[in-house]
Amino acid sequence: MLNLGILTISDKGWQGERADDSGTAIKERFSQRDSRAVRYEVVPDEVDIIAGKLAQWADEGSIDIIVTTGGTGLGPRDVTPEATLKVLDKEVPGLTEAMRAETFHRTPTAILSRAVAGVRGKCLIVNLPGSPEAVRECLDIILPVLPHAVQIIKGEITEHSHSGGGESGAH
Ligand code: MTE
Repeated sequence: MLNLGILTISDKGWQGERADDSGTAIKERFSQRDSRAVRYEVVPDEVDIIAGKLAQWADEGSIDIIVTTGGTGLGPRDVTPEATLKVLDKEVPGLTEAMRAETFHRTPTAILSRAVAGVRGKCLIVNLPGSPEAVRECLDIILPVLPHAVQIIKGEITEHSHSGGGESGAH
């Protein structure tokens, strides 16, 4: 069971001017997995508020993955990657590299997202772009590896344990 935190980052959403369809899309995609949302919030595009919330949730110790949506682009108010980098212990660039590379052919603007991912303590943090469609496209790429990532972060398995494919056995 994955414990999930969903943080929607949107000035308009925070002001109540826009429904949070992206947060809903995250919940829906994860509902197909063994997971439950234990935290959910909408915050404005402010570095200190975003970084503070990410650090607070990660440090509580009960959340395995925090997924953010929004604020990853090139607009003057887009600061989600900067806020996330402030609180990460280490980056996991492959997750967001794969999101961009795999969805680029269908959605060329995918490469305009500056989303980052990484680990703080025992919590994985992943930025997703802001649109519901982007959330669905990107989660479809990374969802299959997230349970394995969480197990490694929590020390439940080593990085070389194999959960599928042709090889067998844990090292
Ligand atoms: N990635 C995918 N897979 N699908 C999308 O529709 N939208 C892009 C991009 N990444 C998109 C995507 C667009 S239009 C923008 S501007 C950037 O994400 C940043 O979005 P954000 O600022 O809402 O996070």
